Amino acid sequence: MPDMDEVHSGKNFYLDNPHAITGFFLKGSNSLEWGTKNRLARIFNPKSGKTVMLAVDHGYFQGPTTGLERIDVTIPPLVPYSDALMITRGALRTCIAPEMAKPVVLRSSGGSSILKELSNELVAVDVEDAIRINATAMAVQVYIGGPHEHESIGNLIKVVDAGNRFGIPTLGVTGVGQELGRDAKYLGLATRICAEMGAHFVKTYFCQTNFDQVVAGCPVPVVIAGGKKLPEREALDLAYQAIDQGAAGIDMGRNIFQCDAPIAMIQAVRAVVHEKATSDKAFDQFQELREEFRKTREVAETAQSTG
Ligand code: 5RP
Repeated sequence: MPDMDEVHSGKNFYLDNPHAITGFFLKGSNSLEWGTKNRLARIFNPKSGKTVMLAVDHGYFQGPTTGLERIDVTIPPLVPYSDALMITRGALRTCIAPEMAKPVVLRSSGGSSILKELSNELVAVDVEDAIRINATAMAVQVYIGGPHEHESIGNLIKVVDAGNRFGIPTLGVTGVGQELGRDAKYLGLATRICAEMGAHFVKTYFCQTNFDQVVAGCPVPVVIAGGKKLPEREALDLAYQAIDQGAAGIDMGRNIFQCDAPIAMIQAVRAVVHEKATSDKAFDQFQELREEFRKTREVAETAQSTG
């Protein structure tokens, strides 16, 4: 019988002795072969070691999410400001032009909706189709503690194995259900399991207490989701704290595409992630850019109404 207390509460994360990064710039990735490293180096900027992924895959379980009702209208203008686009194959093929040069992190699990049990997923993309679509990575949701924990870990294992045959890395996404926690013990458990099952990078949520332990206990890069829409200042602060405590990037959706000035917001997030801007500085930048966009829009609208 495992010692459950010990399992859930590792004590010594050696926070003053960070995981050594030798050779390749990404944590835990030096032993991967060339193709996988090259794909990861397209998602993570080798100079900053970080990434700003734009997540627009929400429709795969919740349909036309606010801000994503028309992906073809709202998302292409944001793509140039991202480092990678996290999206389903259906949305990619129908709404995004193939001339788009950004790496695609392809949503590769699914099979449930907000009307049913979310953890009941399966592998939703054949690796051949991921290759056909030129995916740079595949993403699989894992529901630790959920009713379908076992199957969701199985999905991750299958996708990691399929991707490994072709040098395509896999992002393990720690799904949170209503019954699942979001504290460091839970997130530490979930992220570590993803990494141990072979995920090349892991997406999770930020937590106010001991997030640095979540990062330290996960031997591959951790990126965080933004979560539900917050006031911009708070969302930038969340990003700042996560990066400051060791996150390798942000995979943000609603806090960008639900913002009334999404291009300004994604640029402010970039400043935090790639330039280590404080949230105060990034928020100032956001406000300035938002004002510029407002003026430009006003001029365009006036020209249209008089012309
Ligand atoms: C869906 C996802 C989303 O990509 C993720 O939630 C990121 O978006 P947001 O910043 O809106 O939370 O993984 O399960």
